[in-house]
Amino acid sequence: MKRVLITGGAGFIGSHVVRLFVNKYPNDAIYNLDLLTYAGNLENLSDVDGATNYHFIKADIVDASAIHALFDTHQFTDVIHLAAESHVDRSITDPLAFVRTNVIGTVNLLNAFRDTWKGNFEGKMFYHISTDEVYGTLGETGLFEETTSYDPNSPYSASKASSDHFVRAYGETYGMPYKITNCSNNYGPNQFPEKLIPLFINNVINNKALPVYGDGKYTRDWLYVIDHAIAIDLVFHKGKLGETYNIGGFNEWQNIELIRVLIKLMDEKLGRPAGESEKLITYVTDRPGHDRRYAIDATKINKELGWKPSVTFEEGLSATINWYLQNEAWMEHVTSGAYQEYYNHQYT
Ligand code: NAD
Ligand code: DAU
Repeated sequence: MKRVLITGGAGFIGSHVVRLFVNKYPNDAIYNLDLLTYAGNLENLSDVDGATNYHFIKADIVDASAIHALFDTHQFTDVIHLAAESHVDRSITDPLAFVRTNVIGTVNLLNAFRDTWKGNFEGKMFYHISTDEVYGTLGETGLFEETTSYDPNSPYSASKASSDHFVRAYGETYGMPYKITNCSNNYGPNQFPEKLIPLFINNVINNKALPVYGDGKYTRDWLYVIDHAIAIDLVFHKGKLGETYNIGGFNEWQNIELIRVLIKLMDEKLGRPAGESEKLITYVTDRPGHDRRYAIDATKINKELGWKPSVTFEEGLSATINWYLQNEAWMEHVTSGAYQEYYNHQYT
């Protein structure tokens, strides 16, 4: 029986990973450790809350003594580390928050894992969830491979790159068994409405301006969040120790093209005349240091582990919009309070 610590399990991707593991592995104990920052929400997991193999722990990964004490008590055999500050725009406003959580928090977890198992790492694993943003930006051609050099451009991606390096360094220095995955942009249910897709869904619903950064021709590679969770399960159980796997959607879109598809679907679902919400598109000042294009080469995980996305973008986007339309209460809860302050600071 494994005792799996999933950090950041109340967040967007983490909640889908926790749900999958709790339901699929009833004989493993799944511990969700989360500080419940603005991005963490236990409502995301109300359906698994009562499961006997599920345990929630409210804690801060920046607090080294609390993390050590939790490892002493629970003797976690495995860690899947998702807890992070995750929004690029916030990292431009407050880089140190990203250093604290993403760098110091990760090192605290690595230390606690190392000190708990003291070299007796047989059957143990530290699995670190990272991003394609560590590779920097691409021109019009090319793809990020696992061997692409790190070249982060935002405080967020610099903090994630640093955490990746620490994980690898602990593997080399202390012999800790680790895996790392670097994934492209996720979308789907439960994503906080600071990220492009849920922000724009919410703004279309409320007839608010859709703030397109710069010329709108920035390109991202989009993956449905449940397909990311499936990939994480596969890497966790079948991936090779000491390896990195890139995960991507084989699904590149320029922002403005994606926004037009989103508006078309939303106008249909809201019963508005076709193209009605296009008038909400508003070009605004660009994000500083904005990476022009990300695109993942996911050949390795496809060839070695047989993973590929299970839904098309059209299916995933439609399911995502439906989820937000059916879960207005969720949106109301997460956008009350501090969200208004963030929104005014970022967009006015
Ligand atoms: P998120 O912001 O939705 O969730 C982050 C979670 O971490 C929240 O539940 C939050 O409460 C928790 N958290 C933050 N600080 C903490 C702390 N100090 N201690 C304990 N918990 C804390 O993020 P997400 O989009 O779900 O991303 C999860 C992970 O996946 C991150 O590591 C991110 O870098 C990575 N990632 C995200 C994407 C994406 O498109 N969203 C793509 C690739 C990789
Ligand atoms: O690539 C993986 C990364 O994807 C993850 O590591 C990050 O955690 C996640 O936030 C995401 O980063 P991006 O910066 O690519 O995502 P975001 O949704 O913030 O922006 C997507 C694109 O849309 C980007 O080119 C900026 C643009 N954008 C975003 C917002 C919020 C706008 O034009 N307007 C906006 O208001």
